Amino acid sequence: MSYEGRWKTVKVAVEGGIAWVTFNRPEKRNAMSPTLNKEMIDVLETLELDAEAQVLVLTGEGSAWTAGMDLKEYFREVDAGPDVLQERIRRDASRWQWQLLRMYSKPTIAMVNGWCFGGGFSPLVACDLAIAADEAVFGLSEINWGIPPGNLVSKAMADTVGHREALYYIMTGDTFTGPQAAKMGLVNKSVPLAQLRDETIALAAKLLNKNPVVLRNAKHGFKRSRELTWEQNEDYLYAKLDQANHRDPEGGREQGLKQFLDDKSIKPGLQTYKR
Ligand code: COA
Repeated sequence: MSYEGRWKTVKVAVEGGIAWVTFNRPEKRNAMSPTLNKEMIDVLETLELDAEAQVLVLTGEGSAWTAGMDLKEYFREVDAGPDVLQERIRRDASRWQWQLLRMYSKPTIAMVNGWCFGGGFSPLVACDLAIAADEAVFGLSEINWGIPPGNLVSKAMADTVGHREALYYIMTGDTFTGPQAAKMGLVNKSVPLAQLRDETIALAAKLLNKNPVVLRNAKHGFKRSRELTWEQNEDYLYAKLDQANHRDPEGGREQGLKQFLDDKSIKPGLQTYKR
């Protein structure tokens, strides 16, 4: 299906199982405006039902991944309006960045091609995996223009980065690069910009090879497990495991066991069962 021209602030193209979702406000360094936030809700809900879109890659047009929330349209212009307007635009941001993207039904990869500031850390951490360009520059710049980190940015840092490093960048607003982001665990790896797309495709190809129902249950199980007690986790993670078995139309578990134990045609420690 072609999505050309369907959204104003986001470009979408589906190729070879990958849904390329590109923030498309390069002249504003892909700052996330209320329009972009609203459109992203529609993009994610639409792609969820597109069987051709099996892995979602989130990237940015031009020199930025995203420069964060739009300081003009998301902050200044809304300050003048009624409270409920602010609540509504916050709700839209949370809707796509956390409720939809974080627990998306398909694997997601943030491909960080350039500037990544402030509010951009929310979708960055909400994506399952992330690859940055060495040239990308990250920063929690909120402190520089007079607010603590907004949305769930602090939570995103607390979930991915160590205590000292998180506080250092929150409190100083200093920037850091792709390799530093990889070292602190904010992204999986950093590669030269010229290799970023190929690396992302190679990572997506690994995911495309896996059982999609099992992938979904595995990532949801992991993401929720942080917030639950050990007892709750025992119930929840076994429920996820049973759900995966129950919902998997290709019977992956049986296939995997058969190919290893009976056919001796795979070693699951080294490869995926043949689908
Ligand atoms: N919100 C709104 N507009 C933004 C923006 C943001 N977060 N980031 C960039 N823009 C706009 C600029 O106002 C400028 O608009 P104009 O051409 O109408 O003047 C345009 O994008 C280009 O920005 P510019 O600063 O000239 O680009 P640059 O490449 O020299 O610098 C950044 C890029 C990202 C370093 C710089 O734009 C910046 O510091 N942005 C703010 C980052 C931030 O604090 N984000 C946190 C938000 S929660």
